Amino acid sequence: MSLSTQFKLNNGTSIPCLGFGTYKIKDPNEAYQSVKTALELGYIHIDTAAFYENEKYVGNAVKDYIQASGCKREDLFVTSKVWKTEAGYDKTLRAFEKTMDEIGLDYLDLYLVHWPSSYAFDDDWENTNRSTWKAMMEIYKSGRVKAIGVSNFLTHHLNALMDSEIIPAVDQIEINPGFMQADTVKFCQDNGILVEAWSPLGRGRSLEHPVLVELAGKYGKSTAQIILRWDLQHDILPLPKSVHEDRIKSNSEIFDFELSNEDMAKIDALEPYGNSGHSPDEKTIQKGRN
Ligand code: A2P
Repeated sequence: MSLSTQFKLNNGTSIPCLGFGTYKIKDPNEAYQSVKTALELGYIHIDTAAFYENEKYVGNAVKDYIQASGCKREDLFVTSKVWKTEAGYDKTLRAFEKTMDEIGLDYLDLYLVHWPSSYAFDDDWENTNRSTWKAMMEIYKSGRVKAIGVSNFLTHHLNALMDSEIIPAVDQIEINPGFMQADTVKFCQDNGILVEAWSPLGRGRSLEHPVLVELAGKYGKSTAQIILRWDLQHDILPLPKSVHEDRIKSNSEIFDFELSNEDMAKIDALEPYGNSGHSPDEKTIQKGRN
């Protein structure tokens, strides 16, 4: 396995097994530079979203990297997402056009519904999700995105889409040690939906967990590398974010070791530790984190 190893999506599209996350990198220069650095270090998969307010700088970095390196657009994988305020058929179609204008690429590899409509704030949440998804299927059929999926959908949100003509190829959810969302992961993996992990490092909080620190010492790896490897060994695609070159690099060096079954189980058994407290079915953040 390496940075160019691909997972297969349920529509036959390939997706590189480790992605570079860009949430919270709003500063134009920082967004541009960190994505360019990631690409130069060998990442070929970049994840952004309209909500991150950096699609333009991500797109610029991708285009400049293609020009400078001579690689092809098809060698890279770019994801963006439609934000929850744009739920519904018409708004989703409009939001997609705005994303394409911002990012400045001919096509996206993956386009995701960022958050489900939920009973917490929408009495008609199932139908809202279906009409958002109808727009997503139309966008997919136009050929301007190679795959479509969702993010932050739990089993009951996914269920409302499972009789659609096209089922989601991906569900990108928060996963970090102690916060495995095992029911959703099982549902996705049983139904051929690839799981991606946002905030795999718990925004950095997970890195201090004593069990993970101990495992890092045992394997001679960083705590971040232990966590990202744990994701991969669960067939989960992690999307770590960093603005520091040394961390961007080391977060990609996870292909030269393997966690034992016993150590995988040790991480699986951790109590919640670094998770954000965000839930699609709650109006507010549970723990006041971010
Ligand atoms: P920074 O961007 O300053 O490097 P997540 O991917 O779970 O959202 O976590 C991202 C957070 O973890 C960021 O605050 C990032 O900080 C930090 N981070 C990312 N990689 C590492 C690493 N290898 N070691 C320590 N902190 C890291």
